[in-house]
Amino acid sequence: MADKTATLTVGDSSYEFPVLEGSVGPEVFDIRKLYGAAHMFTYDPGFTSTASCESALTYIDGEEGVLLHRGYPIGQLAEHSSFMEVSYLLLNGELPNQSELDGFARTISRHTMLHEQLATFYRGFRRDAHPMAIMCGVVGALSAFYHDSTDIADPEHRRISSHRLIAKMPTIAAAAYKYSVGQPMMYPDNSLSYTGNFLRMTFGVPAEPYEVNPVVEKAMDRIFILHADHEQNASTSTVRLAGSSGANPFACIAAGIACLWGPAHGGANEAALNMLREIGTPDKIPHYIERAKDKNDPFRLMGFGHRVYKNYDPRATVMQKTVREVFESLKVSDPLFETALRLEEIALSDPYFIEKKLFPNVDFYSGIILSAIGFPTTMFTALFALARTVGWVAHWNEMISDPGQKIGRPRQLYTGPVERDYVEMGKR
Ligand code: SDX
Repeated sequence: MADKTATLTVGDSSYEFPVLEGSVGPEVFDIRKLYGAAHMFTYDPGFTSTASCESALTYIDGEEGVLLHRGYPIGQLAEHSSFMEVSYLLLNGELPNQSELDGFARTISRHTMLHEQLATFYRGFRRDAHPMAIMCGVVGALSAFYHDSTDIADPEHRRISSHRLIAKMPTIAAAAYKYSVGQPMMYPDNSLSYTGNFLRMTFGVPAEPYEVNPVVEKAMDRIFILHADHEQNASTSTVRLAGSSGANPFACIAAGIACLWGPAHGGANEAALNMLREIGTPDKIPHYIERAKDKNDPFRLMGFGHRVYKNYDPRATVMQKTVREVFESLKVSDPLFETALRLEEIALSDPYFIEKKLFPNVDFYSGIILSAIGFPTTMFTALFALARTVGWVAHWNEMISDPGQKIGRPRQLYTGPVERDYVEMGKR
């Protein structure tokens, strides 16, 4: 029994619930027995105060702007680690030694190719299809390809499905880009790093050799680290809910991709750059700030605000630093970066944004650097999905391997008509 309990009093009835504490962060009321005891539900649309599960993967302190993956701060991982190493850490719980990391990277590289039949799936899309529409379709189609590993109760099947998903996302995303520009899809070159391979498949052409730029490779790898996982965000919760029914893992990840696409979530990086382009020059910023504050105007500052971070999103800090480093190193500049810096400065001194604790999030600066590297805006969320696949897969594994795992099935507050009899047509 938990040491602490919470008492809920409704009228003249009282109900006691255990209070559970994690290793760090808010405690929880364990209300699993609430309906049986009080015949009542909790009500929390948007899950602003609901812990949907227990997890050991990622911890966020929104007030302090803290993000830990298996206890390691995102700033340290972004500075010292690699996306392959962070992927290993999320999947296995500990940082790998050199041979573990080499073995993991080699295993992943063995799954980077797509089944040749899968390439034909791209042909079914219009050339101007949004890459996220293609990613949803192609990743979902992967569930029709692997009948050798569909027993999700088998840890070995889960392991190989996880590795296939992490390995194939760069190939799938790069192929979506190639299809949109009418260039031939590039096969992986496993002599390159995970991220270098992705850059070559995206920007290389069969007609000539492709030289991976180490500055771009390092920046891209860091961007993947920043997007790898983020606790129970909407798309991860989607993957967990889809997976809770025992669904095919590839289909579950396709569901996560669909959810991530929304502009309130992963689609914000595309929307943020489009917004900066619409604003154009810093002199236009005050007008857009007023629009963002106007309750009657649906316009929001894309890349600002967060459900959890009520302080600076630590990923945005690293992203801004990375923009500076890449621009200096590549000797490039983009007036939109100045506009973004000025917009942040003005917004963060405005009482509306201060009071509502609206800070730049991970999506605010990412579009600027992705655009500088050469990605079209429509690819930004596909890159987010590529990186977040390891987080989705790690959460899926954590949930499926929990012996207490049950299918997710929320209830509701019903406000529709109470029972009434059918009315014949002639009497309506
Ligand atoms: C991601 O969950 C995650 O961890 C997500 C993510 C991840 O890694 O998985 O971090 C990735 O999705 C980052 C968020 C990307 N989205 C955007 O940048 C879109 C713009 N931001 C928002 O729409 C909004 O801030 C959300 C969706 C991010 C958060 O919304 P909430 O928590 O539901 O908050 P809310 O919409 O209720 O807003 C609270 C108030 C509102 O005003 P009031 O109704 O209280 O008067 O703040 C205002 C909002 O109008 N507000 C904004 C705003 N965001 C919130 N006003 C202007 N511009 C904004 N961007």
